[in-house]
Amino acid sequence: MLKVGIIGVGTVGTSVVNILKDNADIISARAGVDIVVKSGVVKNLSKDRGLSIPLTDNVDDILNDDEIDVVVELMGGVEEAFEVVKKALRSGKAVVTANKALLAYHRYELEDIAKDIAFEYEASVAGGIPIINALRDGLSANHIESIMGIMNGTCNYMMSKMMNEGVDYDKILQEAQDLGYAEADPTFDVGGFDAAHKLLILASIAYGIDAKPEDILIEGIQNISQEDIAFAKEFGYVIKLLGIAKKEKEEVELRVHACLIKKDQMIAKIDGVMNGISVVGDKVGETLYYGPGAGGDATASAVVANIIDIARSGKSRPMLGFDKPLEGELKLKATEDIESKYYLRINVSDKTGVLARIAKIFEDNNISVETMLQRPALNSSANLLISTHTAVEKDIQNMIKEIALLDFVNSTPVMIRIV
Ligand code: HSE
Repeated sequence: MLKVGIIGVGTVGTSVVNILKDNADIISARAGVDIVVKSGVVKNLSKDRGLSIPLTDNVDDILNDDEIDVVVELMGGVEEAFEVVKKALRSGKAVVTANKALLAYHRYELEDIAKDIAFEYEASVAGGIPIINALRDGLSANHIESIMGIMNGTCNYMMSKMMNEGVDYDKILQEAQDLGYAEADPTFDVGGFDAAHKLLILASIAYGIDAKPEDILIEGIQNISQEDIAFAKEFGYVIKLLGIAKKEKEEVELRVHACLIKKDQMIAKIDGVMNGISVVGDKVGETLYYGPGAGGDATASAVVANIIDIARSGKSRPMLGFDKPLEGELKLKATEDIESKYYLRINVSDKTGVLARIAKIFEDNNISVETMLQRPALNSSANLLISTHTAVEKDIQNMIKEIALLDFVNSTPVMIRIV
C-alpha cells in the first residue's frame, strides 16, 4: 500500500481524494498497489469539505509521519511551499506538486535536492494535458525546435468571448473568476505570469535553460480592445495569449504575450478555457496537445497519474529529464533582439500631416509597414491600425516611445506581436 499526505486540500486536493476513491479499482491495477490518502493539511479545520480523510492544520503532522510515502503539495505560493517540499524530500518522501510558481523559481534547486527521490509535477503545466510526460519522455529523442502554446485558460476564455461575442474585458474577467478558472490574484492570469511560469518549466525540460520570470518578456492581455479585435478579424487573425519558446542556433527565446495568429492555424481554433500546446521536434515534426488546463478534476487527473507512476517505479527519472547539461551552452536570447512582425494601434488627433509624421518615424526606425487602416474614434480622433514587416524588438520599442511623445498622439500606442 502507498500512503499519501496532501498539503492543501482545496479544489484540486478534494478532487485528488475523490479520484483515488472513485477509480480505486483501475488505479490499484495500474499502480500494482492500493493508494490511500492518510491525511490532509488545511488552513481552516472548521470548514466542511465533505471528505472522509483525517485533516490537520499542522504540516509537520504529514512531514514527520514515517508512514507517509508521498507528499502532494497543493498549497500554492513560492517560499513557504519551497520549505515544505525541501523538508519532505530531505526526509525521503516522494513529492508531487501542481505548483508552477514554485517550479518557475526553484526547479533546479529542487532537482539537486531530490536526486533519486521521485519529484513529479505534471499538473503544474496545462492541468490535465500530459505535456511534461510528452516532452520529458515521449519526445526525448528530439532536439526541440519550438514550443508554442495557450497555457492560460482564463486568458483564452476571455479572448474567445471578446472575439466571438464582443463581450467587454471587465465583465468577462469577472465571469472567469466566478467560474473558478482564474488564480486567486487574477493579475497572474491576465498579466501573463501564470503562462510564463508554465513556459519556464517546459523550457527547462526542452533546453535545460535556467531562466526566472524576471529574465523573460512577459506581457498580458489588459490593453486589448474591440478595435484590435476588429483589425484582427479584418485581416484574418485571432488574438491569443501565447507562451513561446524557440531555439535558434545557440540561443533560446522565451516570451509570453498576446499574439495575432492566422485564424487557420490549429492553435487559433482552440477556444474557451481549453489549453493547447504545439511542440516541434527535429525528428518528429509538429505535435499538438489539447485539453483542459484548469479545473479540479482535470488537474487532479495529472496529480494522481504522478502518484501512480511513483507507486509503479518507486524511483524517479531525473526531475527535469536530464542528468547533465542539455545541448551544450544554450543562452537566453535578449528580449531586445527578438524579431517579429508587429501590429500597432495609435490614437491620433485627426489633423492634416499626422500620417506623414508617423510614416517618417517608421522610416527613421527602419520599420516597414505592411498594412494600414484608419478608423474614426472618439472626440475627433482616429485610430491608426498598422501592421509591420519583420522588425527587431528594440526598434519597435524605441519607435513606440518616440510616437507616444508626439503632441497629436493621445495615448501610448498599443502593440501586439504577429506570430
Ligand atoms: N489560472 C490558471 C488558468 C489555472 O487559467 O489556466 C491553471 O493553471
